[in-house]
Amino acid sequence: MYEYKYNEIRGKIKVEEKEISQAVISRLPRYFRYLGELKDDGVERISSQDLSELMKVTASQIRQDFNNFGGFGQQGYGYNVVYLYEEIGKILGLDKEHRLIIIGAGNLGQALANYMNFERRGFIMKGLFDTNAALYDKKVRGLQVQPMENIKQFVKENDIDIAVLTIPKSSAVDIAEQLVSYGIKAIWNFAHVDLNVPQGVLVENVHLSDSLMKLSYNLNCYEQKENGTE
Ligand code: NAI
Repeated sequence: MYEYKYNEIRGKIKVEEKEISQAVISRLPRYFRYLGELKDDGVERISSQDLSELMKVTASQIRQDFNNFGGFGQQGYGYNVVYLYEEIGKILGLDKEHRLIIIGAGNLGQALANYMNFERRGFIMKGLFDTNAALYDKKVRGLQVQPMENIKQFVKENDIDIAVLTIPKSSAVDIAEQLVSYGIKAIWNFAHVDLNVPQGVLVENVHLSDSLMKLSYNLNCYEQKENGTE
């Protein structure tokens, strides 16, 4: 059995003293998703070639990625889907339950709270907080919106490990500092600002517009090619 360790200083996962790059780690959720679908469809084994065709990445990329973790399967024989799914899930920390709170119960905060699929992956939404008193009589999927004053105690009593920031950038830095002082160790940050957090606290920034700009770039390239202006 491999031992997966997150190296806080270098932001890499270590497997038996081997460091795994962020590029490999960023591809793991996609493998996990595809394998989950194969598992649900009752597929027991899959070759790197078939997985490659399904996911539209080269078989050699798949083998290289999996070799970082010892390979997971025998060449020619294919991968055991359930085993691979579970092992990648463990690497991603999805075999454990995570308890989340959402700060900012506006459009985005409510949309995230309403998304049931996070729970299937072990991310349990426990609380929703906002400064707007007009929202305090509102419930989103059974969660009552609460005032910010409740957070400190709530984090402690409910063993919260992840905070989701869906507030304007003007207050995000201060709120993140407060959350860290209450013991939050990981922040899923949707506010368009870089947070100052101490070493040991993890931040994952999400900018949907980055993804849209990437799409725009690819569309641009495609159109130039089609029009022969490249
Ligand atoms: P919204 O205005 O609907 O919701 C923001 C909520 O935060 C409001 O309910 C407000 O009362 C609350 N709030 C403001 N200051 C607060 C504080 N200090 N503590 C607790 N709650 C506070 O806005 P929306 O559309 O939900 O967007 C939220 C934020 O997320 C915005 O900053 C927006 O720019 C950002 N955003 C980021 C995206 C991304 O991809 N990263 C995508 C969409 C929005």
